[in-house]
Amino acid sequence: MNKPGTSGLIFNEELIFERSRPNRPGVPLNPPDVPLRDAGDLIGAENLRDDIDGFPEVSELDVVRHFTRLSQWNYSIDTGFYPLGSCTMKYNPKVNETAAALPGLADVHPMSPDSALQGILGLASEVEQILIEISGLDRVTLQPAAGAQGEFVGMMMIQAYHRARGDHQRKRVLIPDTAHGTNPASAALNGMEVVEVKSGDDGIVHPAALEALLDERTSALMLTNPNTLGLFESHVEELAELVHAAGGLVYLDGANMNALMGVAKPGDMGIDVMHFNLHKTFSTPHGGGGPGAGPVAVREILEPYLPSPIVRRDGEQFKLDADRPQSIGRVHGFHGNAGMWIRALAYIRTLGAEGLVDVTETAVLNANYILAELKSHYDVPHDRTVMHECVLSDRKQQSTGVTTADIAKRLMDYGFHPPTIYFPLVIPGALMIEPTETESLEDLDRFIDAMRSIAEESKTSPEQVTSAPSLPKVRRLDEVRAARKPRLRWTQDQAE
Ligand SMILES: Cc1ncc(COP(=O)(O)O)c(C=O)c1O
Repeated sequence: MNKPGTSGLIFNEELIFERSRPNRPGVPLNPPDVPLRDAGDLIGAENLRDDIDGFPEVSELDVVRHFTRLSQWNYSIDTGFYPLGSCTMKYNPKVNETAAALPGLADVHPMSPDSALQGILGLASEVEQILIEISGLDRVTLQPAAGAQGEFVGMMMIQAYHRARGDHQRKRVLIPDTAHGTNPASAALNGMEVVEVKSGDDGIVHPAALEALLDERTSALMLTNPNTLGLFESHVEELAELVHAAGGLVYLDGANMNALMGVAKPGDMGIDVMHFNLHKTFSTPHGGGGPGAGPVAVREILEPYLPSPIVRRDGEQFKLDADRPQSIGRVHGFHGNAGMWIRALAYIRTLGAEGLVDVTETAVLNANYILAELKSHYDVPHDRTVMHECVLSDRKQQSTGVTTADIAKRLMDYGFHPPTIYFPLVIPGALMIEPTETESLEDLDRFIDAMRSIAEESKTSPEQVTSAPSLPKVRRLDEVRAARKPRLRWTQDQAE
């Protein structure tokens, strides 16, 4: 079992400035074998800098060791378990990277004529066909660069659809209280009015609650399924029927398709439009705000509004078709973040159809295993079979003053990345754990042992938990101040 502080890392590194010793050389240069020139003559005396005040004097080895150690503190999926609920931090197989870096794909110039893009357009078409098959819908765009942009695009298309039918008053989007924050944001950015749908005590939306909110102003229901409590919205078909009967459309936030793919198709549940998060479901890197991919799948009625251009097959040839007068227009340069959907294709092709089903089943099994192993130690707000993630809370620990934030910090002492905390908002003190299918039973057990130990410590020595983390040099930061007023420069007086 992991013991706190046994990860082998010592989180107590001097700053490079503090390692400085007067006259310690960095890399000594050999005497030049060409005549010396005055640097001022070359670049202008005004561009020469005198000594840099406080510049660290360190040897090459000091520098190498310092930065190598710092790089090892960078927690990543390649170094350890990353149970961030709602983020699906699954391992990204390296073969995906190899595929995306193939020169024939990575070096394609996006302004090339269609005739010179046949290979990559063929792959785009293949990814689209696979997503059509998984979604049970009719057409896909690969352009959106993230899940949130997919939502935005979906809302735009829904609005275009209503406008084309003269239904200008349909501006209301009904969104459950368990929704991911990007859902109401995407609707509001489209100028739509967001109306919250309250989930029932069992954590899912009930038809009666939705029905009471439907009228001629309804544009869409925006549903996340499975929802952010990890629960399957089992009334989805009835909800969709009600929305359709009221003249609205049904949007699925399909970011959690890793719980459904290969097992159930949103199109069969009455969904009209959905986005995928390739960086969650299909293991592509999350990018830290960098390139992602949020393809959108639609039912035929929405095809005219898809972003332009779309990939069309013309006999044996593929072409980019931009002659689409009802399209909402282009939403991304060229054809989306191609490297991302190529990585997703590598993942899908490696696994095959049966492998994808196995992914789904294992992701669901792992989440239920963690829930079963932890439920006698932590409060479980909705004690039911979950899908890809489970939500616990700090209710049992509160009597000794231990909170969710403390539990998350203490996990760092045990060498784990904390889960998502305080989300979804409907559960006070939520701890949202998503193991994904890529973790082995041994790694799940190590995490479970750490969580159980923390529950025990919360009873017997709560100060160990409330003062965590104990390993880093700086233990509890004022996190808001650190974000708002970061001190990014070392100054001499800090050394004194
Ligand atoms: C349920 C859900 N919806 C939407 C999003 C937004 O996706 P992105 O971060 O790619 O914009 C996420 C992100 O993790 C999510 O978990």
